[in-house]
Amino acid sequence: MALRCLRLRPVLSARRTFSTTRIARSDALFVHRDTPYNNSKIPFKFTPENLKLAQEIISHYPSQYKKAAVIPLLDLGQRQNKGWTSISVMNYVAQLLDLPPMRVYEVATFYTMFNREPIGDNFVQVCTTTPCMLRDGYKILDVIKDHLKIGVGETTKDGKFTLVEVECQGACSNAPMMVVGDDFYEDLTPETTKKILDAFAKGQKPKPGPQSGRHTSENSAGLTSLTSKPYGPGEHCLPEFS
Ligand code: FES
Repeated sequence: MALRCLRLRPVLSARRTFSTTRIARSDALFVHRDTPYNNSKIPFKFTPENLKLAQEIISHYPSQYKKAAVIPLLDLGQRQNKGWTSISVMNYVAQLLDLPPMRVYEVATFYTMFNREPIGDNFVQVCTTTPCMLRDGYKILDVIKDHLKIGVGETTKDGKFTLVEVECQGACSNAPMMVVGDDFYEDLTPETTKKILDAFAKGQKPKPGPQSGRHTSENSAGLTSLTSKPYGPGEHCLPEFS
């Protein structure tokens, strides 16, 4: 019986129709190609302040596990290197942690937080994962593309903005959202998005967080439960406990 079922399976599956989603292409190559601005001959080392910080980070791990500091050190290197992780940054981190460089390349190419190409002054990451998509995340992305006159993965000619599309940033309850630098801008509309970009273009730093005026991710329709005054300490207790 089981054998007959097995024999039938290919016939049934051959009748199924399949649909596929759009193939997501990476913004950058995973392999390194030497360029005049990114090759191992370009020197890199931490500033004295960052070196101190790196040593502090390394000291948090047992000496035989100091390789665990690779992500924070790459992040430190990226911040010092104007927001991107060059081959020289990777080699320097490998040297600091006594690691074969390949171990560091593997980490830097796996995590999308490491930019392996130069970026603009303001790194704009727009979320288009399901909750943001349902709240017009793609419209926000289109507004940014139109406003900055660049596509995804591109940098404006004046070097002020780089735009990328990203997966969930963990701020779904305030969708749609984008990240600029280290800050989240949430509850976006086309108007507030353009206003934020204009402020950054002028060198200002607009206030991060929800742009709708609500406090963090509180219900925008106001309180719908737990609306009565909370009990005070000792209320409703038996007399011997109050
Ligand atoms: S889906 Fe956009 S932040 Fe989670």
